[in-house]
Amino acid sequence: MISASLRPTISHPPLLPRGHGYDVSALVWHPPHGELLRSTDGRELWLRVIEPGDVAALQRAFTRLSPEDIRRRFLHAMSELPPLMAKRLCNIDPVHESAYVLMDESVRPHEIRGVGRIYVDHTSDNAEFSVVVEHDWSRQGLGVLLMQRLVDDCRSRELTEIWGYVLLENRPMLELCRDLGFTQRLVPSEPGVAQLSLRL
Ligand SMILES: CC(C)(COP(=O)(O)OP(=O)(O)OC[C@H]1O[C@@H](n2cnc3c(N)ncnc32)[C@H](O)[C@@H]1OP(=O)(O)O)[C@@H](O)C(=O)NCCC(=O)NCCS
Repeated sequence: MISASLRPTISHPPLLPRGHGYDVSALVWHPPHGELLRSTDGRELWLRVIEPGDVAALQRAFTRLSPEDIRRRFLHAMSELPPLMAKRLCNIDPVHESAYVLMDESVRPHEIRGVGRIYVDHTSDNAEFSVVVEHDWSRQGLGVLLMQRLVDDCRSRELTEIWGYVLLENRPMLELCRDLGFTQRLVPSEPGVAQLSLRL
């Protein structure tokens, strides 16, 4: 299990106090590098904003995803992450996007274990989320941690809602979002897809 917390500068408490995984006292902010998460068994991950230099790591992370994880994340099948798309995903426009990675620096080269991302629609004051955690690192609270960070980001941008499309068969994500207080509605134009939303 990994222990971590929300960053000390955040002015409101975590959405969900967790019974396992992350310990709110254990995430240490090391500007400008990021926040260090340390597990109870000694493993470490860095939570930080995605950077242009993360392209190769993002492409390697994609190759470790199962076809099911890819379909759940992108809502369609993809056999590879094209270099231009990887570059685009690592070069964010901070006015319209935020993206956070969980970086494993205990290995060479450093590897990305999870990514959380929002795209902001300033016209309607909301943001669409996406999140993915590498399978071998799942069920340790990392998905919740990334989602909490995205919610915090949306709040600091003074948005009114965070939402995302999730496949109805994606029980892990539906449960994760339900735990965080998201509401669910079906998307008539997209059978098999739910829109999950949280008013901020
Ligand atoms: C969904 C996903 C992000 C969850 O990441 P994670 O790090 O395993 O999530 P957490 O450890 O924070 O789990 C949080 C909660 O989610 C639910 N959950 C997670 N994995 C689950 C599983 N395999 N089965 C059932 N519930 C699950 C549980 O409610 C869990 O709380 P609990 O551990 O207290 O029971 C991860 O499985 C993933 O990357 N899936 C593929 C991509 C995807 O589906 N993205 C969402 C659409 S954008």
